[in-house]
Amino acid sequence: MYSLLKPILFRMDPERSHDLTLGQLAWLGKSPLKGLISQSIADKPVQCMGLTFKNPLGLAAGLDKNGACIDAFAAMGFGFIEVGTVTPRPQAGNPKPRLFRLPGAEAIINRMGFNNLGVDNLVNNVKASNYKGILGINIGKNKDTPVEQGTEDYLICLDKVYGHASYVTVNISSPNTPGLRSMQYGEAFDELLSSVKARQQLLADQHGRYVPVVVKIAPDMNLEELQSVADCLRRHRMDGVIATNTTLSREGVEQLEHGDEAGGLSGKPVRQKSTATVQHLKSMLAGELPIIGVGGIDSQGSAQEKLAAGADLLQIYTGFIYQGPALIKRIVNGIA
Ligand SMILES: Cc1cc2nc3c(=O)[nH]c(=O)nc-3n(C[C@H](O)[C@H](O)[C@H](O)COP(=O)(O)O)c2cc1C
Repeated sequence: MYSLLKPILFRMDPERSHDLTLGQLAWLGKSPLKGLISQSIADKPVQCMGLTFKNPLGLAAGLDKNGACIDAFAAMGFGFIEVGTVTPRPQAGNPKPRLFRLPGAEAIINRMGFNNLGVDNLVNNVKASNYKGILGINIGKNKDTPVEQGTEDYLICLDKVYGHASYVTVNISSPNTPGLRSMQYGEAFDELLSSVKARQQLLADQHGRYVPVVVKIAPDMNLEELQSVADCLRRHRMDGVIATNTTLSREGVEQLEHGDEAGGLSGKPVRQKSTATVQHLKSMLAGELPIIGVGGIDSQGSAQEKLAAGADLLQIYTGFIYQGPALIKRIVNGIA
């Protein structure tokens, strides 16, 4: 069905086509017609962070920012679903246009800027869904919260989503919120992780349930920066790391239409950078933290490449936009 719909969707403005599709999926996921988007995929269970994943392939954050389509994405056969990034208060995001397709590179450039309806809305959507599988909730800070007070935004979100998530992702790697990536470094990172970890312990006691907290990082760090991130993740005993978010690099797309748009680049052009980040992290973390590999996965081969580099779990976004739900089945079936 996606091969019929894609030419129509790809003729429309990217954000309009995104909004339209998500609107339909939100409705379909809760309707008796859900069968239209359902796929049966053999279970390939994976144990990670004390959780059992139906299969190792998840939906990456940013596609379902408000958690409005959880039932629909579950029906398509994802082994886990990550919703968000969500912020404490609703925010509009950056001015449009802010989403660009680069079909020549099977890539996307986005500078959405955490457009979302706020954490309370997301929690209501999660409560309204029928999904019983692994749900990650990805949290961020509002644009108008000064970076120095950013930690408080993460704690507000953590408090609100804790009881509704299988795991929580601290996203400090979006290139589209001014100053956000600075939280990946030095004292700011140390302070953020220390506060988040303390709050996680408190919430675990209150809820009688330990919810893993993972950190999502950028692919644009040098080895020294990556080593210091890895050391900090180990020191604070974080539960996992997601590598990676989109890249600021424009290697391979300079000549393409929209190749010079500001924002984060995803899809095929980020694949190598993400895989290299996974590979370096694998040795830097000494096996102490699981790695969720994401960036440019668009085939069995590229999925296998991330696993071989050391990823325990995988996520997709851009490949899914270009190939639709059939990609989930192809990848999961191909995993040994
Ligand atoms: C349009 C768009 C919006 C995104 N929004 C978010 C987001 O809100 N939070 C986040 O952690 N990652 C976000 N991402 C990054 C993806 O989750 C993923 O890390 C990245 O795109 C690399 O994977 P891919 O090559 O499979 O797309 C976004 C990506 C795209 C293309």
